[in-house]
Amino acid sequence: MKIKIKISRCDPMGKGWCEPFLQAYDIEAKEGMTILDALHLVKDVQDGTLAFRRSCRSAICGSCAVNINGFPKLACKTHLIAEYKKRKEIIIEPLSNHRVIKDLVVDFNTFWEKINKVEPWLNRKTAISGQRSAVSKQTVLKINNSSKCIMCGCCNGACNTLEIDKRFIAPAALAKAWRFVGDVREVDKKKRLEKLSEAHGMWDCVRCVNCTQYCPKDVAPLQAIERLRAEAINQGVIDNHGAKHVESMVDSVKRVGRLDEAAMTFKTLGFLRSIGMIPFGFRMEMHGKMPMPLIFPQIEKIEEVKKIYEEVKKRKKQAEVKVEK
Ligand code: SF4
Ligand code: SF4
Ligand code: FES
Repeated sequence: MKIKIKISRCDPMGKGWCEPFLQAYDIEAKEGMTILDALHLVKDVQDGTLAFRRSCRSAICGSCAVNINGFPKLACKTHLIAEYKKRKEIIIEPLSNHRVIKDLVVDFNTFWEKINKVEPWLNRKTAISGQRSAVSKQTVLKINNSSKCIMCGCCNGACNTLEIDKRFIAPAALAKAWRFVGDVREVDKKKRLEKLSEAHGMWDCVRCVNCTQYCPKDVAPLQAIERLRAEAINQGVIDNHGAKHVESMVDSVKRVGRLDEAAMTFKTLGFLRSIGMIPFGFRMEMHGKMPMPLIFPQIEKIEEVKKIYEEVKKRKKQAEVKVEK
């Protein structure tokens, strides 16, 4: 079947910048063909100037990530005809949130800088010669997903926080960070968590789930972020806005059975910074987005909510005793 594919072209050579535009190519699509096969067909037969990355062609190396019909995917793992039937068009563009070097090739320097920031190696006590360092299957399973990352950048390309703040550490590096924080042999967990809790770190994630949705290897970066946050609170790394926000949410639901936005702001930001938020609070109030402070009503049957908290506390204690045994 004949398919028209549109590819983003952009060549800044000699200019330092370029304006991307879509160039259409007609190709003969065969059963089983991938988007990467289509790109090769265009380059080999129609236009040798087209630039894109690839290596393994088997969804292993992570180098062929591009936007296909607006979403980050591996070109070698996406079937051309199936995608065309689903979306009625094929538009291939470079990965979002990365600077374009040429056509579909993006600059991965910032991606690697973020990965390096989380120090992707294990800090462990010096092994005693001849002594085995046994790690149970259960503890390995906790970090198994993060180990499956192929560094394709699809998650960073889909990240809403990264889109508005280029300094955000971003999901790929956070998934990698959990690989080491979650490792029972790691000796610097707390230090790592303190660093990850700094500005532009793990607490800036807005939990949009895009990273988990578009990861082609089921790494589930958002789950890694949630585990990092829980571990930080467990380890007492709570002197930051993110952890304070979580604590104020938990406290608010326990106290009144719902979110008391005004009280949460004070607990999260402190008194002085909260004063500066008052105009914003009024705007939210006018749009019905914030219950009135002070007259905030406690829900009926608040005692039922408190019972849930007691039950969670009891179960947590039981789980701790089990681990100690
Ligand atoms: S869940 Fe968080 S890290 Fe993942 S894409 Fe959304 S904002 Fe980014
Ligand atoms: S977490 Fe998934 S999407 Fe992100 S770089 Fe690793 S493999 Fe790619
Ligand atoms: S070419 Fe290696 S992942 Fe696609």
